[in-house]
Amino acid sequence: MPEADKEGKDFGLDKSTATEGFFLKGSNSLDWGMKNRLSRIFNPETGRTVMLAIDHGYFQGPTVGLERIDLNILPIAPYADTLMLTRGILRSVVPPSYTRPIVLRASGGPSILKELSNEHIAVDMEDALRLNAAALAVQVFIGGEYETQSVHNMTRLVDMGMRYGMPILAVTAVGTDMKRSPRYFRLACRICAELGAQYVKTYYIPKGFESVTASCPVPIVMAGGKKMPEIDALTMAYNAIQEGAAGVDMGRNIFQAESPAAMIQAVGATVHKNLPPAQAHEMYLDLKNGK
Ligand code: R5P
Repeated sequence: MPEADKEGKDFGLDKSTATEGFFLKGSNSLDWGMKNRLSRIFNPETGRTVMLAIDHGYFQGPTVGLERIDLNILPIAPYADTLMLTRGILRSVVPPSYTRPIVLRASGGPSILKELSNEHIAVDMEDALRLNAAALAVQVFIGGEYETQSVHNMTRLVDMGMRYGMPILAVTAVGTDMKRSPRYFRLACRICAELGAQYVKTYYIPKGFESVTASCPVPIVMAGGKKMPEIDALTMAYNAIQEGAAGVDMGRNIFQAESPAAMIQAVGATVHKNLPPAQAHEMYLDLKNGK
């Protein structure tokens, strides 16, 4: 029998035990594992994240900038707070020594040749856990042809996520024929949150975005969208953050930039340090030109 240590005596009787609130909006009632995963995605010091989205191939094949993820993305991945991608690319290209959190694409089915809203769940929770994912992302097509099916994909993932402590990111997908109005985004984001998504990804709109973030009870990350000039993308990210977004989930505006490494660092300063657009753009140019 090993000799037992003496019982401790210092119980800190003059100090009360701290009860910490959780730093993310609407997330205080979640369980420890879910909060821990969210704390890997969102920086607890700033409450924000820069997610690098490279999952485009799941419905559109090798997009410009993603032809060779090993050559184009791996060098900039260390600058991202979180990498959002499919399990196929994760297993085939990303080394397991990469320890940043992974948000795994969990819905799919149709290609760009078909009706995009006709998605199903495309990943088993067990495989997501095996891959050590920090969250799962699912497309929700409010107003789309398969609206109900896509909402059902999300609620099923939320149920499985609650069982295993896996956060679900609802991605609001907007059909090309649909109007991007504040009312639409308030509706779409609120439905995702009401039905249990732990956070929501949506597009920025120049008027009324603050009402979208205010009426959504969980964190919103801003989607990037089509490539635009770097100064415009940085301005959009800055405005979204100032108007209540808890970060960005950008793809093309980072990996299609002339210097993706410079761009992701400038986006990082915008998100975490509130760097105004003109200064962030200057930072981008300096990094791009090797200054
Ligand atoms: C949504 O459709 C997918 O997650 C996309 O791959 C991602 O959101 C696109 O990012 P971005 O629009 O910034 O290129």
